[in-house]
Amino acid sequence: MVTLLTGISQLATAPGTGARRGAEMGVLDIIEDAAIAIEGERIAWVGPRRAWTGTAAEERDLGGRAVVPGLVDPHTHVVWAGDRLADFEARVSGVPYEQILARGGGIRSTMRHTAAASVVELIELARPRLAALVAGGATTVEIKSGYGFTLEAELASLEAINAFIGHARVQVVPTLLIHVPPGNPAERADYLAMVTQELIPEVASRGLATAVDIFIEREAFSVEDAKVVFGAALAEGLAVKAHADQFHAIGGVECAIAHGALSVDHLEASTPGQIAALGAAPTVATILPGVTLHLGLPAAPARALIAAGAAVAVGTDCNPGSSPLFSPQLAVALAVRLNGLTPAEALTAGTANAAAALGLADRGRLAAGQRADLLVLDERDWRTITYTLGASPVVASWIAGRELTA
Ligand code: NIG
Ligand code: FE
Repeated sequence: MVTLLTGISQLATAPGTGARRGAEMGVLDIIEDAAIAIEGERIAWVGPRRAWTGTAAEERDLGGRAVVPGLVDPHTHVVWAGDRLADFEARVSGVPYEQILARGGGIRSTMRHTAAASVVELIELARPRLAALVAGGATTVEIKSGYGFTLEAELASLEAINAFIGHARVQVVPTLLIHVPPGNPAERADYLAMVTQELIPEVASRGLATAVDIFIEREAFSVEDAKVVFGAALAEGLAVKAHADQFHAIGGVECAIAHGALSVDHLEASTPGQIAALGAAPTVATILPGVTLHLGLPAAPARALIAAGAAVAVGTDCNPGSSPLFSPQLAVALAVRLNGLTPAEALTAGTANAAAALGLADRGRLAAGQRADLLVLDERDWRTITYTLGASPVVASWIAGRELTA
């Protein structure tokens, strides 16, 4: 059964297939007075309304509004317990994020609260956060564990994340995050042994995650640690990715690229060497402008990355410490303000390239054969999605061929 969406003043989508690199990111297919034919979960046809010659069982007039692909949020940490409001107040009074972490606060305080919560509690805490991301235009959301720390608590976080698969309309992609090592350096080797010999094999055998991420940073894991974790993940058939160059470029980007990472995320401290490496590698460069806004970090060098030929994606990094940003649409809009992307590049970053950052080729575009994940916007012009700050320009979301209803 075909449903034909009409009354689309303007349809905007990245063309082609796969990640869009460099100058390609600024090139969109824009169709005025468009129509989209949906069959089941997929798009069957896209084109100018007047070119449609098929038959449709049902026609839906969207009332002269712009339509874009559903946003893919390729980087979130929405499963956490506790809050970071005291850390926030300390930070805005001048205490650096890394110093709060080094003295046992920050990520470590969220770990204490998360490890003490049950799977059911974690699900109930994450549910409204996921709903906020959907209201902000997400049709696919990656969610990382990483606040559990122990074997049991990491598995509990992943169980909470997996509970949304098949129960939430939004598509959830689970990632195991190896976040920070034990505070006592003497315990580090044992912790890494637990991660590589127990946690990663168990996650792989239970199918609890499709990728393993690691935070490579002075206050977190070294490149040597990352090599061991990546090796264990790849041996289990899991994809790899990294948090890299958030505060210091210590080789995380180069190490992740060498292991075929799907993406490296953050990049605020990347220098010309890392930028050139990302320009030449298939690894997607994911920028997180919420961190720039919330921590006052330098913006990731997105213009230089695009000039080097990299594929740039954008995500919220929704988490309690570095980016309490609950709207993928706002992440896209901030990428324009803070990272200097053009509106067209930002749309590509939040759709086709964000899908590529998750290794997904079946979404992120409006084209025949893609999942029918799309957003109806409040204006006739698609650029409203990169323009609006603080209110959602998303009037309706369609996920896998069906309109999302409250
Ligand atoms: O992506 N950089 C490390 N991890 C998270 C922050 C987590 C936190 O502060 O709770 C991030 O920024
Ligand atoms: Fe993160």
